[in-house]
Amino acid sequence: MAATTSIWTPSSWRERRALHQPGWPDEERAAEVGQRLAKFPPLVFAGEARALRAALAGVGEGRAFVLQAGDCAESFHDFSAITIREKLKIMLQMSAVLTYGGTLPIVKVGRIAGQFAKARTAATETIDGVELPSFRGHMINSEESDADARVPDPERMERVYHQAAATLNLVRAFTKGGFADLTQVHAWNQEFVASSPQGRQYEALASEIERALLFMAACGIDLVSERRLHEVDVWTSHEGLVLDYEEALTRRDSTTGDWYCCSGHLLWIGERTRGTDDAHVEFFSGVHNPLAVKLGPTATPEEALELCERLNPARVPGRLTLIARMGADRVFDLLPPILRAVRDAEHPVVWLSDPMHANVFKTDGGVKTRRFDDVIAEIERFVAACRAQRVWPGGVHLEFTGEDVTECLGGGEAVLEEQLSARYMTLCDPRLNARQSLDLAFRVAELLRH
Ligand code: PEP
Ligand code: CO
Repeated sequence: MAATTSIWTPSSWRERRALHQPGWPDEERAAEVGQRLAKFPPLVFAGEARALRAALAGVGEGRAFVLQAGDCAESFHDFSAITIREKLKIMLQMSAVLTYGGTLPIVKVGRIAGQFAKARTAATETIDGVELPSFRGHMINSEESDADARVPDPERMERVYHQAAATLNLVRAFTKGGFADLTQVHAWNQEFVASSPQGRQYEALASEIERALLFMAACGIDLVSERRLHEVDVWTSHEGLVLDYEEALTRRDSTTGDWYCCSGHLLWIGERTRGTDDAHVEFFSGVHNPLAVKLGPTATPEEALELCERLNPARVPGRLTLIARMGADRVFDLLPPILRAVRDAEHPVVWLSDPMHANVFKTDGGVKTRRFDDVIAEIERFVAACRAQRVWPGGVHLEFTGEDVTECLGGGEAVLEEQLSARYMTLCDPRLNARQSLDLAFRVAELLRH
């Protein structure tokens, strides 16, 4: 393990094998963009990353639950106040359901304001009979079916920075400026959701919350001055895939002297780039943000322990989250030995379930989709596996959108196979629509109650 003995710097990852990097055709131009980005203001501050770490420490102790959710890939084309607002609405709705149903605080983390790069299993994809380099997220190339458009362009990193800054600005404004006020609990229910059974169930729950607030006011509690009823924290997260971008946004915190990756509050390492001697683990080992790592079906207990040692040798609570994405049919067999090994080694880890990424399949018509029932089944089995090992099931990691899309099958007002093409809008993986997301929140709240 030469890895742990060398000296870490924001660029020490460059000595390691870096998988799934863009392969910019002009490295010099990429370096210039990196130098420009390095002079820009950070998107988040070290103190915020520490506050999220503290919140996650509470999750690790079983005192809260994480809802981490958003797009598979954010898009340069879909960039408006409405998109951001609709995503926040469904996040707030799901949190209300989970807080009320599960009687637990919900730590809200968006896959937002930075989720622009994708690690793809295949280097090429065939579109209308033409083989093209794979689309790898708007930080790297364009999804257009055109060979030129697929060439990686480093200027895109700068565009990501600006879109992330504007997105984060609006998220902060909405969450601190009245939109997330608990008295708005009815307003988060969108029209196309309200008419569904889940929408009506939500209306009933929102009315109960309202009555509870009136009750507290009648008891003489000053609701107006209680900040927590009027504001929420929504943290940002993305897969820290393109290390040129992450390095350029890494800054030393002036109060502690520690390094933070200031592109988002929480960064995660994907299933394809979690090798302990590789560049991603090297880079993230040196920044002090809360981190997450995805663990797929091939992950072993030894690998999980090595990741814990490499990324959290000081065993700081809240520092490390492990996200199991094993598949509905396998999680109950594959996860327990890993849970046990980490628990026995007394590593303070937050455990999340990503019930999306190992449940993808293609329909006979060639559409990439997921079944709502598989998503729910993976969460149920994840919770059961955790409980059997006396480990707190700390939360869920989802791909959703606030819009009325038809990308995943089944769920609240079931989407049928023949309907998939009606509003299939994702740039990458299929997302739960707002009704399916709300349906999921009710079921998870039920699980938490037991
Ligand atoms: C993702 O989160 O979009 C993703 C690609 O996940 P994974 O690394 O788990 O495959
Ligand atoms: Co995805």
